[in-house]
Amino acid sequence: MLVLGIESSCDETGVALYSDKDGLIDHSVNSQVDLFKEYGGVIPEIAARDHSNKIIKILKNVLKENDIEIDQVDLIAYTAGPGLIGSLMIGETVAKTIAKIKNIEIMPVHHLEGHILAPGIENKSLRPPYLCLLVSGGHTQIIDCNDYGQYSILGETIDDACGEAFDKVGKLLRLEYPGGPKVAELAKKGDCKRFNFPRALTKSKNLNFSFSGLKTSVLYEMESLKETDYADVAASFQAAVVDVLVTKLSWALEESNHRKLICSGGVAANEMLREQLDKLAKKMEIDVYYPSLELCTDNAAMIAYVGYIRKSKNLEGYDAKFSKPRWPLGELYA
Ligand code: KG4
Ligand code: ZN
Repeated sequence: MLVLGIESSCDETGVALYSDKDGLIDHSVNSQVDLFKEYGGVIPEIAARDHSNKIIKILKNVLKENDIEIDQVDLIAYTAGPGLIGSLMIGETVAKTIAKIKNIEIMPVHHLEGHILAPGIENKSLRPPYLCLLVSGGHTQIIDCNDYGQYSILGETIDDACGEAFDKVGKLLRLEYPGGPKVAELAKKGDCKRFNFPRALTKSKNLNFSFSGLKTSVLYEMESLKETDYADVAASFQAAVVDVLVTKLSWALEESNHRKLICSGGVAANEMLREQLDKLAKKMEIDVYYPSLELCTDNAAMIAYVGYIRKSKNLEGYDAKFSKPRWPLGELYA
């Protein structure tokens, strides 16, 4: 089975090829980050236009470089949501058009299922059940992944997503967009104990997160600081975020009895988070898995992989004939 994956939910245009025989054959991502640096965030209209300008070229290149003809593809899996509607519709239109002309089967894919299953692309023996920490620019969730296609959310953010908090603090620290990787870089030079930023919702064993107060504390603290203090702010902020994520995960692991933990989404690229999760895993005698750095952020490899898993396991299809900008994981089949 050869699967073509297409991802265009936000500001990355991705195309991938995955086969049952060879695994991930290739994937290509065009990030729009440079387009949005001057705005400090994604502008939906510009994102959609850029997907539309690039997607066919990326698709043709991936096929050509791997000596594969479109007629060899058995299934086209594309991201149907959640995401920006204009961006989603570009991937949807390309997928549906090729499928129609070439008479190829098509499958809409939930973007978050892509992140949840992504570590399995490079770890062939990894399969659910496992606990998943999903940390991206739009989501912060602890998910009980009981089996393929069976996910329940144990906790999630009640305000900002974890990556969003990194990006907002990046802005306060006058770092380039997206702030996450830059804050992490600056944090390496700082003292993470200098400021004791709040760890929200950790007084009782609550699995939800809140990051908006943390960002406000950083803002207030910075009013009396100079630029030479910024590395300490970055380090202390990062320590507070990682501390909360790890604390809540330890509670979720205790409660759920999972022996495997996976962490994915853009923030899973964060080195300090990985170090602390490795420590937690060692302490709790469980295994922890991450996608490689390039598969942490948005990509089509994870979308093709979900297509392959869903097709080969004959899972119930989602009800997503048209792209769904809002599509909670709890309503996968609704
Ligand atoms: O999963 P992703 O590519 O896109 C979404 O679906 O949101 O995640 C992007 C997010 C951004 O907020 C970015 O700042 C953050 O992941 N990020 C990081 C790091 N690398 C990316 N945050 C903290 N540390 C990093 N090393
Ligand atoms: Zn994502």
